[in-house]
Amino acid sequence: MCGIVGHVRPLAPVISSAATPEVEGRTLCVLLDGLGRLEYRGYDSAGVALVGPSGLQVAKAAGKLENLRAAIAAEPPAPATAGIGHTRWATHGGPTTENAHPHRAGSIAVVHNGIIENFRALRAEVEEAGRALLSDTDTEIAAHILDMDFTARLAEATAADPSADPAQVLVESMRAVTERLEGAFALLAVTSLAPEAIVAARRSSPLVIGLGDGENFLGSDVAAFVAFTSRAAEVGDDQILLLRPDSVTVWDKDGCIVEPKGWEVSWDASAAVKGGYETFMDKEIHDQPAAVADTLLGRVDERGEIQLDEMRIDPAVLRSVDKIIVVACGTAAYAGHVAKYAIEHWCRVPVEIELAHEFRYRDAVVSEKTLTVAISQSGETMDTIQAVRHAREQGSKVLAIVNAYGSTIAREADAVLYTHAGPEVAVASTKAFLAQITACYLLGLYLAQLRGNKWPEEVADYLAKLGEMPDKVQWILDEQQSVVRALGAELADRSSFLFLGRHVGFPVALEGALKLKELAYVHAEGFAAGELKHGPIALVEEGLPVFVIVPTPRRPILHDKVLSNVQEIRARGARTIVVAEEGDDAVDAFAEHIIRIPAAPTLMAPLLTVVPLQIFAAALAGAKGLDIDQPRNLAKSVTVE
Ligand code: M6R
Repeated sequence: MCGIVGHVRPLAPVISSAATPEVEGRTLCVLLDGLGRLEYRGYDSAGVALVGPSGLQVAKAAGKLENLRAAIAAEPPAPATAGIGHTRWATHGGPTTENAHPHRAGSIAVVHNGIIENFRALRAEVEEAGRALLSDTDTEIAAHILDMDFTARLAEATAADPSADPAQVLVESMRAVTERLEGAFALLAVTSLAPEAIVAARRSSPLVIGLGDGENFLGSDVAAFVAFTSRAAEVGDDQILLLRPDSVTVWDKDGCIVEPKGWEVSWDASAAVKGGYETFMDKEIHDQPAAVADTLLGRVDERGEIQLDEMRIDPAVLRSVDKIIVVACGTAAYAGHVAKYAIEHWCRVPVEIELAHEFRYRDAVVSEKTLTVAISQSGETMDTIQAVRHAREQGSKVLAIVNAYGSTIAREADAVLYTHAGPEVAVASTKAFLAQITACYLLGLYLAQLRGNKWPEEVADYLAKLGEMPDKVQWILDEQQSVVRALGAELADRSSFLFLGRHVGFPVALEGALKLKELAYVHAEGFAAGELKHGPIALVEEGLPVFVIVPTPRRPILHDKVLSNVQEIRARGARTIVVAEEGDDAVDAFAEHIIRIPAAPTLMAPLLTVVPLQIFAAALAGAKGLDIDQPRNLAKSVTVE
């Protein structure tokens, strides 16, 4: 979830631009402007690499972009003709200057967004070649592998033809190296031997081209260059690019030149930090397919077994665990609640869900055989920090599921399983919730594998189903969003809503109600559908909007019970809004509104059913003219008890 930017211009330039009148420093100016607009993608560190008549220069700094700006102001680089920049959301290696991109190897510098899954095997190769590594990153390994290939290939090419073009040779090296890389990447490389070129490659990580007049750009999204050009072009998976000041050449994976599909960016630089979306929440809702995919990335080895590198708890301890306690607050606690159903089912270990602030003040039964799982997007929620400390004092091992790298909870826990959702800016949590469920499921399957509760084929089957979820989330965004938004606007004058769910649909109902409360300031309650008759049904009156999460019809025992609940409330005048699988026609007769989700197994459904509830809450709040990203009275990270 990092941000990358690239710019190339001619050696003897005459580019006039109102945006950057100082022609000589234009490349640096473009990179810093782009990084500023991409900083929402990560802000653990930032850096730039520049090539030009003075060779290769690299500047980088830990922390926010302002630190890089200060470093550059203190030691201004010489004018450059090509440059690449990076703003980092740490995955491999802490947020230090050494781990900041660009990474340099020989004449080459590289920036990278994504995770190279087979970097351990490649690292051995680099070390065997006697190369010194300065960072803990997968990217530095890629830089060395690329430089090793480039050095050898260039020597051969110039021996055959002294005028061989180093940029073209770097293209060949990029192709050869990326064929060996597993995982996801957008890689940009510059070399001092070809100062008017950037070579790039992409697989499952975002990368777009910006087409200028006598100059060209690259970015993780168009925000990177929208201040300089509105002409953009797509980069497909496994394509290799060569950018020169006056040309862009793209090769597909078979080495054939292809014409990239272009478009005109319709929004201006002021919207860029939100990637063109009106609000961060909207953007983060759309980030969800990537959040799930990135959280799964790099966690299954070549034998199909789950490898949680960050799991620093002795497997013998994990085998002896007789209870799991999840400590978390708000949305993170609901993610834990969803996971309870899966982990108990897969591992046959009891899972308790504890609000972190309650856990600490009661005499919970915790021992060395208890595994405490602390879930937190920020890793800085004080209630959860205190719960972690309390659990450790009782002798429990603590595993943290955290999004923010190097945060307090990540540091204090015995082990960390990072969600790779990228920075979540909107106060209302969305993509973190999906990433937390995904990480909890990885943990559950890992424990089932370790403890022998599931056969390898069963674990592989669940992983395959999880792997299908990003596309299914995307389907909801593509196909159902407008219906849900219209409903949000239509119901903007209502002051009360109910949300019902059964089994994993219950915590989803709680989360749907929380989203509406915090964003739209209306009364909203979530219930277990079966609990309704025990009291809450008295709330139902004519026209009350009630959301019902309907389980898959392939689990009739759950499905039919929830359908009965829908009939009960409808008979009492409720306006029923049903979230149901495609093809589940049984709901048609009882639903005033139907929101469809793609078919999925029961345990996977929360990753889908929650998405329309998020969209609905944001749309309703928007229709009321409320501040969606920063609702009243709330803070993104609750750092006091
Ligand atoms: O950073 P954390 O995940 O620890 O935060 C926990 C809750 O404060 C958080 O999930 C909160 O409930 C969200 N704003 C809800 O959208």
